[in-house]
Amino acid sequence: MQRDLFALAILLAIIITAGCQLPVYTVKSISRGQTAINGNLELTSGKGPYGADVRNLKFVVAYEKDDRVRIVIGDSEEKRWRVPDYVIPGLKVQGRADQSNLVVEIPDQGKQFNIKISRRNGQVLFDTTGKDFVFEDQYLVLSTAFTSPHEPNIYGLGERVNALRLDPRDNHYTIWPQDNGNLENFNLYGHHPFYLDQRNDGTAHGLFFLNSNALEFNMKYNKNENRLQIRAIGGIMDLTIFAGPHPQQVVQQYHDLIGRPAFVPYWSLGFHQCKWGYDNINNTIAVVENYKKNDLPLDTIWNDIDYMQDLKDFTFHNKNFEHERVKKFISDLHANGQHYIVIVDPGIKVEKDYAPYEIGLQKGVYIFKEDGKTPIKNKVWPGITVFPDFTNPKSHEYWSDLINEWLDEFPLDGIWIDMNELATFCDGECESDANDISTPYLPPGLKLNKQQLNMNSVMNASTWYNAHSFYAFMEGYATRKALLRKYPNKRPVIISRSSFAGTGRYNSHWLGDNDATYRSMHLSIPGMLTFNMFGIPLVGADICGFNGDTNAQLCARWTQLGSFYPFSRNHNSIGKIPQESYVFGPRITDINRSALKNRYQLLPYYYTLFYKAHVEGSTVVRPLFFEFPTVVDSFVVDTQFMVGSALLVSPALEENQTVVDALIPPGRWFDYYNGTEISGNRRLKLFTPLEKIHVHVRGGAIVPRQQDALNTAQQKKLPHNLLVALDENGNAGGELYLDDGESVDAVSTGRYTLIKYKASFDQSRYTLESHVDRAGYDNGVLGYVSFVGLKSKATKVTVNGSAAKFRVEEDKLTVDCGNSKLTKDLKIVVSL
Ligand code: NOJ
Repeated sequence: MQRDLFALAILLAIIITAGCQLPVYTVKSISRGQTAINGNLELTSGKGPYGADVRNLKFVVAYEKDDRVRIVIGDSEEKRWRVPDYVIPGLKVQGRADQSNLVVEIPDQGKQFNIKISRRNGQVLFDTTGKDFVFEDQYLVLSTAFTSPHEPNIYGLGERVNALRLDPRDNHYTIWPQDNGNLENFNLYGHHPFYLDQRNDGTAHGLFFLNSNALEFNMKYNKNENRLQIRAIGGIMDLTIFAGPHPQQVVQQYHDLIGRPAFVPYWSLGFHQCKWGYDNINNTIAVVENYKKNDLPLDTIWNDIDYMQDLKDFTFHNKNFEHERVKKFISDLHANGQHYIVIVDPGIKVEKDYAPYEIGLQKGVYIFKEDGKTPIKNKVWPGITVFPDFTNPKSHEYWSDLINEWLDEFPLDGIWIDMNELATFCDGECESDANDISTPYLPPGLKLNKQQLNMNSVMNASTWYNAHSFYAFMEGYATRKALLRKYPNKRPVIISRSSFAGTGRYNSHWLGDNDATYRSMHLSIPGMLTFNMFGIPLVGADICGFNGDTNAQLCARWTQLGSFYPFSRNHNSIGKIPQESYVFGPRITDINRSALKNRYQLLPYYYTLFYKAHVEGSTVVRPLFFEFPTVVDSFVVDTQFMVGSALLVSPALEENQTVVDALIPPGRWFDYYNGTEISGNRRLKLFTPLEKIHVHVRGGAIVPRQQDALNTAQQKKLPHNLLVALDENGNAGGELYLDDGESVDAVSTGRYTLIKYKASFDQSRYTLESHVDRAGYDNGVLGYVSFVGLKSKATKVTVNGSAAKFRVEEDKLTVDCGNSKLTKDLKIVVSL
């Protein structure tokens, strides 16, 4: 009797679990080609939790390149929403299975579908076997095991304010562009469903889930569970795995798919000053003058929405920014080699006779309500506004005309595009409680239309539900096109708050509304490092902090750190105390001056890194593990970072901090300022008075530099110099890229100079030689070369065969190169 009861209980359990059984998709057909595997799937049992399963699916797994495999699983009729090719190119088959570094395994016909991707050596990178796979109309789940033998090291999945290394233990990472300010571990402005997985054995791979709907990456790595669940509330599954195996290669392979970053002009690497609250032209002019008076470098001054007439786009305030004075201001700036950028928001004020509104209405370029013909309204700074639909090609001409007419009068140097998530003041709509798209499932805590348009709003591409996340991407595209129409051969500078995978092709980014706190300052480091992985290298945070009042010490520390951001801009909110580099008295002004001058000296190095990122896809600033992927201790480090492969920056990030506990990776390192050697592969306590930010140069690196000036235009004519840091064997290498700093076609027409430098040691002599790869831009001289890490004192130095002047200061040997032309072959011999 007892046995019968037991059997009955088991039977009941089987019936119940079968009732809620997760969907099983069976391989209905499969054809395995040399370039791709194609097939069909059918839902053969179970069902998803919301009862809208897509029963018939079609898949393609393509060897897109030798180091990347792309998996696309969609409905068999191909009717579902997918991200358009103009955002990210659709699947292209360029590789072959037998040449691929990745091996794909999919079961035969009649078996349950799953997919496994491994390296040729058997290391598994992705495996859905035994994990849930759901394909409902508004609920898609694709799960893999974390296949690493240790707790996974995952980076990316933005945009969020977070530690660099994401916590995989039990966490969900939501992706959906919204203006959530500075909330930690929340979905913020951008949409970047990419992560890099770094293994303890030194290898890395990447994963990109191309889907523009709201997403959630659910990680569970603990004693009982090991899975990464990717959930989407629409679209299809379009997943690419990048083989790496070096972390830098993973990023390059990713940028190869989404597009490499546009090249930025040289001046955009200079220092920028902004504030919400420069409310008239006089105080804007005064800031520029004060920078000069205090001998502080400044390339660009910015105005926030204060400059607008009634907060309307494409206007200048009639009184506070009197037009003739603004024009004179711009021309004075230009005459002095400086630049001017202002903000533009996507919301166009609904106002009779306001031309931008009327023209847009006439042309039908706005985002519509569900009916597809009434422009949807919401509220932003100027009041009730409508919004151009940048996925509608007609809007590009409209936007370009507005920008061009405006710039004919006010020749701005760049545009800051803000509030483009879109951020609105009402949820959905202000006027009515319109019904919105309903959703059976939402990532925890997410309200789709929070300070957002309604999801059923209609764009040319699709509904707002499907396409809102690349709205800013398209605005960036249109804005870039507009600027190129105005200045056909000037690289546009467009700084956007919202971004999508691939935004780097058109725009750059700042990290949004941070706080004037040490924590925000610290978290700006993972922010900028992650955006470099996302292919947007010109990135930085509001130096000294946006929300709240800063203070002298914080602002000095932040200026030191921010002087190493690729995009270096001081900005704060309205009503907050001034925080320009000169406002906190002589001591802080001195600290800021030396930080900013140091930045300007390093600009040739930064610019060369930007060139590299543009032509190869790579990072300008990068985590330590990108350079030292086998140093497991470095995987969590986000209090320090590398600039290129040569400089290690270890800032002070806490109040009253006097000691920085720094990880010094293996190798030979030198204090950047005085050349003192420290050996690597250890932790080191570095004394850090307020005057000091620690920077170390890596043995083996050659860093190109230049004499500083108050802006990049003035600096252009000054001599360059090199810092040669020798490794244990007396070798070093580096390169310098130079061009006119602004032409769009400098690279494609070869009007640039690229010089490689190499140092070596032979018996008792060091030799430094240049190799001019290309001399298409002939403007620049070499003042001197400094060496650090010589075995003993130099006795004689020659430059191109003639005896040269040299001097030894602290641990540095400096050789005079007599301002010889950079493009002339150089050979320095240092005899011991
Ligand atoms: C929000 C931006 O994030 C911030 O930087 C700007 O100052 C304000 N909008 C006002 O335009």
